[in-house]
Amino acid sequence: MLKRMALTVVLIGMAVPAFAQEPTWRKDIKPLVEAQCIECHGATAPEYNEWEILGDAKKEVGPRMDTYPHFMSYVIWPATGAMMRRLDDGKISGKPGNMYQFLGNSDADRDKNLQTIKEWLGDGAWNLNRWKERKGVPGVTKEQLETIKAKY
Ligand code: HEC
Repeated sequence: MLKRMALTVVLIGMAVPAFAQEPTWRKDIKPLVEAQCIECHGATAPEYNEWEILGDAKKEVGPRMDTYPHFMSYVIWPATGAMMRRLDDGKISGKPGNMYQFLGNSDADRDKNLQTIKEWLGDGAWNLNRWKERKGVPGVTKEQLETIKAKY
């Protein structure tokens, strides 16, 4: 009996990863944005298009990204790849994006939160490309965009 109980415990323990839910905006990303970003990117911040026309003031204020559609405008369009370029840890490019620092209070924290966002966006979706080619860097492809899952 004891043996069977122990086996049951092991099996339940093993089953957990299989049932682990995929990350969603509501469950994982929104709380992260609320904890780390809305201080500067909340509901009172200018929307991306308003922010875009601010000129020099753009450096001082962050654009709004506290809802799913606002957030996705820095992933897909119009600010294609901005989210990835700003949050990237620089392990491949050599230089982290300037918003990476806000992902957490320690390297471990930042790494964990970055992995959550990457996993949520989808396998193959972490692309730093813009919509169009710039300085020799090709524009994002339809194939790259199709890897985006970003479940609500
Ligand atoms: C202390 C304030 C502050 C915090 C906290 C902050 N940001 Fe920012 N962010 C800014 C400012 C100011 C700008 C505009 C200046 C610039 O481009 O660097 C900006 C710009 C950005 C941009 C560029 C948008 C574009 O289209 O070019 C992205 C993406 C971004 N932030 C994401 C984030 C994310 C995600 C977080 C949370 C992990 C975050 N930021 C936390 C202040 C902040």
